[in-house]
Amino acid sequence: MKNSHWYLLQLYLGLSITATTLMAFGAVKDTASNSKEIYTPAPKAEPRINGPLVYGCRPGHPFLYRIPCQGDRPITFSVQGLPKELKLDPKTGIITGITPATGEYNVVFQAINSKGKSNRIFKIVAGDKLSLTPPMGWNSWYVHYNRIDDKTMRQAADAMISSGMADVGYQYVNIDDCWMNAEKTLNYMQDSTRVGPLRDQEGNILPNIHFPDMKAMTDYIHAKGLRAGIYTSPGPNTCCGLAGSYLHEEQDAARFASWGFDFLKYDWCSYGRIAGKEPSMDAMQKPYLLMGDALKKQPRDMVYNLCQYGMGNVWEWGTKVGGHCWRTAGDLGFELDRFFAVALKNAEHGAYSKPGSWNDPDYLQIGMIGSQIGTTFTLPQPCKLTAYEQYSYMSLWCLMAAPLIFSGDMSKLDEFTLNVLCNPEIIEIDQDPLGKCGTIVMMPDNCFLMVKELVDGSKAVGLFNHGKATTEVTADWKTLQLAGKQLIRDLWRQKELGEFNGKFCASVPAQGVVMVKIAKR
Ligand code: GLA
Repeated sequence: MKNSHWYLLQLYLGLSITATTLMAFGAVKDTASNSKEIYTPAPKAEPRINGPLVYGCRPGHPFLYRIPCQGDRPITFSVQGLPKELKLDPKTGIITGITPATGEYNVVFQAINSKGKSNRIFKIVAGDKLSLTPPMGWNSWYVHYNRIDDKTMRQAADAMISSGMADVGYQYVNIDDCWMNAEKTLNYMQDSTRVGPLRDQEGNILPNIHFPDMKAMTDYIHAKGLRAGIYTSPGPNTCCGLAGSYLHEEQDAARFASWGFDFLKYDWCSYGRIAGKEPSMDAMQKPYLLMGDALKKQPRDMVYNLCQYGMGNVWEWGTKVGGHCWRTAGDLGFELDRFFAVALKNAEHGAYSKPGSWNDPDYLQIGMIGSQIGTTFTLPQPCKLTAYEQYSYMSLWCLMAAPLIFSGDMSKLDEFTLNVLCNPEIIEIDQDPLGKCGTIVMMPDNCFLMVKELVDGSKAVGLFNHGKATTEVTADWKTLQLAGKQLIRDLWRQKELGEFNGKFCASVPAQGVVMVKIAKR
């Protein structure tokens, strides 16, 4: 790839190459900061099995797992040591059945095609814990807002497969707000088709006419080996003013389970009206505990995503109320540059990150995304972040073991966006079974390192440049608590950089990152 030239030059010679020089090399199309250089090598023809190494599920519940695997189809899958309660479809790699009794089941996946084969170990942990690695998927909010419907959800599931996202581990297809009815036409809802009865005579919540059959929709998603997510609020209304779950919590949890949902986002919104202005810790936790208990009683695994913008240090008690991940701040929205600050803040709570308990700095808002102007939600536009910023965004989220929930347009995924979202070596850092959040080491010139310990004893290190010009960033062994010769691999480029002693230096573009794995020889 042409663009690798300037990268190698920078890396090995430590040269700071100007945009003009780069243009002369033919390495960038516009300016350096707006270049859309593709870092991720294209998937190879031979199979490569991706995805987490460990997976939590509850005994007696429906089991569903699609083996994420890149490579030319057709691929034939097999699994060694699969518990008898589970069944594999060798053509699709989808495993279904009923989760076996409490215990750990070590299995080996294998994928074979005409070009080669791939093996990967996978530990099924049947017990009480879900989400042993951060959830990965897509959410409708930042692209479809109050325009979401059944057809778009199904298309998102189709695209998750056809784009290759599912082959690197994305699996949740989640509806956000606006699938239910409002009592009257609201500011946000100039659309009167989302106005109607909130519940039936038995008090069951009713979807609006854009969701004619929730069960059929989740069946469609499940048939692809993917999972479905839904959204509600503990308050009387959602943030857009539609029906929430207040006083119907148990009933709604049961309804969501019977519709076949696997994930619930529970968004505080109007609950402030119930809890009062400065709620006590108990009052803040109460609605989340109530829903957490209700979800645990359901006959299916449902990941529980708390969304209350970090109030009351939710990272300290999110697990106690049954949550698996929690937003640590308000909406990331879409302001250039804010994601760096949001990430640095989120990482302050890194000590609370562990398997089954994830700090959530909000969605991956890249590709085609909309925005909110007053009470209007705009149609999707190309993400305004530069290529370097997008690499930093994804790297930070992975080094923090954040949920990887993309919220751009699944029907308009371009090559650059997919390269940011779908690098399996970068994702593997996010999904590392230790579940550690990287720690930050501030460096001169607005630069910093984020250092994440990995299960195999190695470290993932992001060398970030939050400044305005290309800068050389050094990660020395003393800072990293390393000694002796170390092997370094560039994770974005999926390339060995060789053996280093004492330090590793890289020339990092403004707002960009070089992300490496450092392992003992
Ligand atoms: C809040 C949440 C967002 C989204 C909207 C929906 O703002 O933080 O993620 O769910 O509500 O109305």
